[in-house]
Amino acid sequence: SQLDHIRNFSIIAHIDHGKSTLSDRFIQVCGGLSDREMQEQVLDSMDIERERGITIKAQSVTLNYTARNGETYQLNFIDTPGHVDFSYEVSRSLSACEGALLVVDAAQGVEAQSVANCYTAIEQGLEVRPVLNKMDLPQADPDAVAQEIEDIIGIDATDAVRCSAKSGLNVEDVLEDLVANIPAPEGDPDAPLQALIIDSWFDPYLGVVSLIRVKNGSIKKGDKIRLKSTGKDHIVDDVGYFTPKMTKRPELNTGEVGYLCASIKDIHGAPVGDTIVSTKNPDVDALPGFQKVKPQVYAGLFPVSSDDYEAFRVALDKLSLNDASLFFEPENSDALGFGFRCGFLGMLHMEIIQERLEREYDLDLITTAPTVIYEVVTRKGDVVNVDNPSKLPDIGSIDEMREPIAECNILVPQEYLGNVISLCVDKRGVQVDMQYTGSQVSLRYEIPMAEVVMDFFDRLKSASRGFASLDYSFLRFQEAPLVRLDVLVNGDRVDALAVIMHKESVRRRGNLLTEKMKELIPRQMFDVAIQAAVGNQVVARTTVKALRKNVTAKCYGGDVSRKKKLLQKQKEGKKRMKQIGSVEIPQSAFLAVLKVD
Ligand code: GTP
Repeated sequence: SQLDHIRNFSIIAHIDHGKSTLSDRFIQVCGGLSDREMQEQVLDSMDIERERGITIKAQSVTLNYTARNGETYQLNFIDTPGHVDFSYEVSRSLSACEGALLVVDAAQGVEAQSVANCYTAIEQGLEVRPVLNKMDLPQADPDAVAQEIEDIIGIDATDAVRCSAKSGLNVEDVLEDLVANIPAPEGDPDAPLQALIIDSWFDPYLGVVSLIRVKNGSIKKGDKIRLKSTGKDHIVDDVGYFTPKMTKRPELNTGEVGYLCASIKDIHGAPVGDTIVSTKNPDVDALPGFQKVKPQVYAGLFPVSSDDYEAFRVALDKLSLNDASLFFEPENSDALGFGFRCGFLGMLHMEIIQERLEREYDLDLITTAPTVIYEVVTRKGDVVNVDNPSKLPDIGSIDEMREPIAECNILVPQEYLGNVISLCVDKRGVQVDMQYTGSQVSLRYEIPMAEVVMDFFDRLKSASRGFASLDYSFLRFQEAPLVRLDVLVNGDRVDALAVIMHKESVRRRGNLLTEKMKELIPRQMFDVAIQAAVGNQVVARTTVKALRKNVTAKCYGGDVSRKKKLLQKQKEGKKRMKQIGSVEIPQSAFLAVLKVD
């Protein structure tokens, strides 16, 4: 049957192990594209990308491969991202596949990052096929690397295809292995439509485009479909494959992966993980879907100039069209004025968004200290979620504070185990499990989310020379001795500088913070007192001494133009400052809150 001739797969590979080169080879072998056509095609899509100013997400490619047995197979290759912040996207892509190729550089060996993704694939029931790449390199040591794959991941790698994506050596053997060993999809072509949305993105010309996997039945242009979660009906405008160009097809059948356009206006209308059914048979069950991604890190973002507020709002709207995980709502700060409270998946996500706002939208922004969500139980018994320290209810009305705990799975080569354990302890981690697998150790820790999202990943990498890998997810809220540390400048509380933290670190943090602020706040005509306080209790204080001389004094009062120039200069300097009461605070002071550890 037709289903027998479909293979849906992903490639799991560490960065630089050759995923892109190998997939280009696949396209070449299958499509019979010449080198020149390949180049044209790549250029083509880059031009469109430039023209539209968006990143085209061609995360799937459909190829026809004529195998040595003479049969032609439809191969659907679904791409996966690489960073821990986006690991939920990996399991999402994998859920559309029956198998995965684990591509390992035969000269480098197994890298911890792909191990976590491999486990995800195995957990989801996928057939994982190891591939040893870069066999053309003289330092390739395929036997040792095959052994490593068996030791660490526990899959048989004796028959792993040994290839070179660069030279083309044995690339067809990889496809043969894939066709022979990755199972065909299952499903009933005659059953009512049931399709899973793997991803959705916004295209300025087509509206929302969704990547879907048809589990049962089929879908074609003109069909009336319903989205299970929203209950909304839509008419199908188009379906097709990426080859890698967007190519229309009369229909998508059971087992296939392809795109769908149905005049859906924004991505919230086609949520990832949702099930598509036919309005003729709307009672078909929803598919398991995916865990909803919730932002883990929140921060206030404020335009330096209040004139930019509207442009900022428009920019966030635009960014969120292609990023369902970006959360934002208006926030008003005494210190920083009007801005937005934004929620991110992690620090990398936050940095990417910040950078895009500043670079693509030319906005100057001030970002407040990032925070996780806390759960607060009030004396009245209400449970409130707090994503903004300045919104924390009065200490007197709080019965209990709870912080989010993350379950962290870490894989680390034995030689770095000591370093990694000290790091986990340092981050208030509790060990739950430890297992030796070959030369690597698998650790499970429960660590406060606040510690995990900040710089844990970077610290883990440097503690293990890049070899440790991390996977984490929210586990539960747990009671903790938490308080809010406020910063007061000449008695005025600066709401944007408040942080929620553990009681025991308050004094140390308060001292570091006030010292840092002292360096950063320019001297004024008067003394400026900087205090760190918990409620009414001051835990640290410093003073920025008054400037003795008037800045303009040295102009002897006579040279008016020079005096004007000086004042103008001061005014420009103000752009990146915020007035707090009578004191101006530079943006660097806000950033300093982040840096104080
Ligand atoms: P990212 O795009 O950064 O994720 O990397 P990737 O995993 O897609 O690897 P990519 O295909 O870009 O290859 C990384 C580097 O390895 C490139 O310089 C390739 O030319 C090279 N490379 C890929 N396959 C081979 C191979 O079989 N042999 C040799 N010698 N080099 C290869």
